[in-house]
Amino acid sequence: MAEPSIEDLPGVGPTTAEKLMEAGFTDIMAIAVCSPSVLSSTADIGESAATKIINAAKDMADVGGFITGMDILEKRKEITKLTTMSKALNSLLGGGVETQAISEFFGEFGSGKTQIVHQLAVTAQLPKEEGGLEADVIFIDTENTFRPERIVQMSAAIDLDPEEVLSKIHVARAFNSHHQMLLTEKAFDVAKEYNIRLLIVDSLTAHFRAEFLGRGALAERQQKLNKHMHDLQRFTDLNNAAVCVTNQVMSKPDVFFGDPTKPIGGHIVGHTCTFRVYLRKSKGGKRICRLIDSPNMPEGEAVIMISEDGVRG
Ligand code: GTP
Ligand code: MG
Repeated sequence: MAEPSIEDLPGVGPTTAEKLMEAGFTDIMAIAVCSPSVLSSTADIGESAATKIINAAKDMADVGGFITGMDILEKRKEITKLTTMSKALNSLLGGGVETQAISEFFGEFGSGKTQIVHQLAVTAQLPKEEGGLEADVIFIDTENTFRPERIVQMSAAIDLDPEEVLSKIHVARAFNSHHQMLLTEKAFDVAKEYNIRLLIVDSLTAHFRAEFLGRGALAERQQKLNKHMHDLQRFTDLNNAAVCVTNQVMSKPDVFFGDPTKPIGGHIVGHTCTFRVYLRKSKGGKRICRLIDSPNMPEGEAVIMISEDGVRG
């Protein structure tokens, strides 16, 4: 189910692929819409070879077709809202975390990102009338912070059988950013076998941030992140699933943003996430959630509590 990569194009070997990647041609679509002269000079190949590559890319690219506004309306009717167990946070999000969308929770360490995604992995299994999705969950764990014990506590608190809940959460540890991207591709296969309606990536950016250091690596990091976000977006579409990702904030001025409250990943992450929630710690174990740049919800704040039972408030 993985999308073909540019190396799958006839006439594109590893060296040409590298040149193209460096120049920003990271996927088949970018090549399909490129002109032979541009591709030829970028990849250092003849124009006729470039034309052949472009034609192959046009055949391979999933250009998509036109569908009517009615089709889109019908598809959007299937959007489900997944409860966070906090009334305040649900209403901030317009009812809960949406399927067919990526939601991002970002904030500093200890702000509750991992707790929230654990909570969602549990509530996803609630009946639909209670704000659940009645479905299995994929949890891509990049920081080794998935805790089955927490799932047990949170399940028991809402009268779900903890073992049944755990058996429906499919967890994979990602050891580096490349592995994280491969696991996301693998998720498409898992979703054929199980009814997956929620995919979690905790944390979306930690590996990328650790591996691509400095200004020189920024372009490559953003290209990889772009592909990763694109795959996650496709997952939401194909499975009517919610994708929830966590992200940290810059702890020191970034090359792009001086603001320490900016999430990592810049515009590439920002533009692909439909909902971005900024979490910050407050007094007495409370957390303040702020909805940022949502296309169709007013900006606002919600106060949540994190307790042994999970997210409430
Ligand atoms: P990083 O991944 O380090 O960036 O942080 P995070 O935003 O993922 O933080 P996380 O969700 O791990 O939040 C940890 C905080 O949740 C703890 O400091 C506690 O305040 C709270 N917490 C976690 N487990 C429990 C629990 O069982 N009971 C209570 N009362 N609070 C808990
Ligand atoms: Mg965490």
